Amino acid sequence: RLTEDEILADPVAKISAVGGARHSSIPLPVDLFRAADGHRNSMGIDLAERNVLAKTTHAVRAPVNLSVEAVSTQAVNDAVPRAHAAFPAWRATPVEARADCLDRLADLLERHRDELMAICVQEAKKSIADSIGEVREAADFCRYYAMQARAKMQPIELPGPTGERNMLHLDGRGVWATIAPWNFPLAIFLGQTVAALVTGNTVVAKPAPQTPAIARRAVELAHEAGVPADALILVPGGPEVGAALTADTRVQGVAFTGSTATAKKIARSLLADNERPIVPLIAETGGINAMIVDSTALPEQVVADVVTSAFRSAGQRCSALRLLLVQEDIADGLIEMLSGAMDLLTLGDPSDPASDVGPVIDQDAYDRLMAYRDSARARWVKTIDAPAGGLFVPPTLIRLGSIEELNREWFGPILHVATWKAGELEQTIARVNAKGYGLTMGLHSRIARAAEVTEELAEVGNLYINRSMIGAVVGSQPFGGEGLSGTGPKAGGPHYLYRFCAERAVSVDT
Ligand code: SER
Repeated sequence: RLTEDEILADPVAKISAVGGARHSSIPLPVDLFRAADGHRNSMGIDLAERNVLAKTTHAVRAPVNLSVEAVSTQAVNDAVPRAHAAFPAWRATPVEARADCLDRLADLLERHRDELMAICVQEAKKSIADSIGEVREAADFCRYYAMQARAKMQPIELPGPTGERNMLHLDGRGVWATIAPWNFPLAIFLGQTVAALVTGNTVVAKPAPQTPAIARRAVELAHEAGVPADALILVPGGPEVGAALTADTRVQGVAFTGSTATAKKIARSLLADNERPIVPLIAETGGINAMIVDSTALPEQVVADVVTSAFRSAGQRCSALRLLLVQEDIADGLIEMLSGAMDLLTLGDPSDPASDVGPVIDQDAYDRLMAYRDSARARWVKTIDAPAGGLFVPPTLIRLGSIEELNREWFGPILHVATWKAGELEQTIARVNAKGYGLTMGLHSRIARAAEVTEELAEVGNLYINRSMIGAVVGSQPFGGEGLSGTGPKAGGPHYLYRFCAERAVSVDT
């Protein structure tokens, strides 16, 4: 275990030390996605980065303004027509100019990194390492979508076998509603929003009620970067604000990240009015994400990756591991190692670089998770102590009698474990698929055939083999699920922007 002095001297080592392993596949703080030449994705950590955690400890405790008043549903009724009126001019703005706004926004995010991290730590209770990642991912989305828009939004000429000139154009659709979650209150909030903006849409953006302050700062910076005030309007508020927004028939598309139940509600609301145009819904929701481990896997690596996948960010990632499926021949030994690694986790204040696992987002989440955890007490394999007072849910490992026993997503640091029999890899994947979710899946195996089979059979948006299951990197690991996990578009991928566009074909008889 590292001492505090060692942590402060070498914070990156601390990140790598989660789970007690010096080496793990926790994504180290990646450098910002720099699209300077159109292609460079720098993943390295320079020397300056190595001390960033220590340097920012004080910065993230600096006072920030977290008070944001929720708006009324009347504000939604005002915002949508303003965004609608701003649409023609923004749509007519050349894509290069819109993309330049995103690049400038990325620069501003970097320039204001410490302040944004402070809001993220204090408002969303994210760890320092996660807050660094949050700002980076937000800037990565801006740069990546700017680059994609410049490349993809150009008109293309199609074959004209009948002697006509056939052109295909991509265009904005109108006003988009973007509705964001609290667990990535900057990165996902901005990712959805800038994708809509750069493709020529205007946006009314609703942050999660738990995290409006960081969204407000992001919108201020977007305006400073050149996005017109009415092209991006923030409507902080709860579910009633979201409901008013999606029910507004002038909204031409919705990008939503959150629960499956809310995504279904939105889908119904978009179809409720028979006169309303049929508009796209981009939904990214939850998952019952499984990692399958066979007897050839490297136990140390599995344990490090399980700890990262299940407990980093207090398990509050939609990508997080919920169901560990171990081949029964190695289960006892692996569970013992995992329990040992869990003993090394430190729960604590997110602004403390020594904390591995912070609190969960709010009292409701805490109560829900603790009630479930208590109800499963007879099946606990391992749990650890949590500091008193504070919303710390102790990381807990729960044994299941069968894969089928887990039927819903528990959005916190609670991991379930079940076993499977040698020779039943295909059946095991099928049983996971049968849950109907399809976000992330992991496999740990050194058999090439096992990887091939899993790749062929796993019905998930993101499959991770011999690594952790979280931390998709913009531009390299497009992220998003299928089935109950979402409508499929992959954030940070090369096809994402198309989903925000109207496609128009023009044929001219020459
Ligand atoms: N994109 C996040 C991850 O990959 C989840 O939203 O962990």
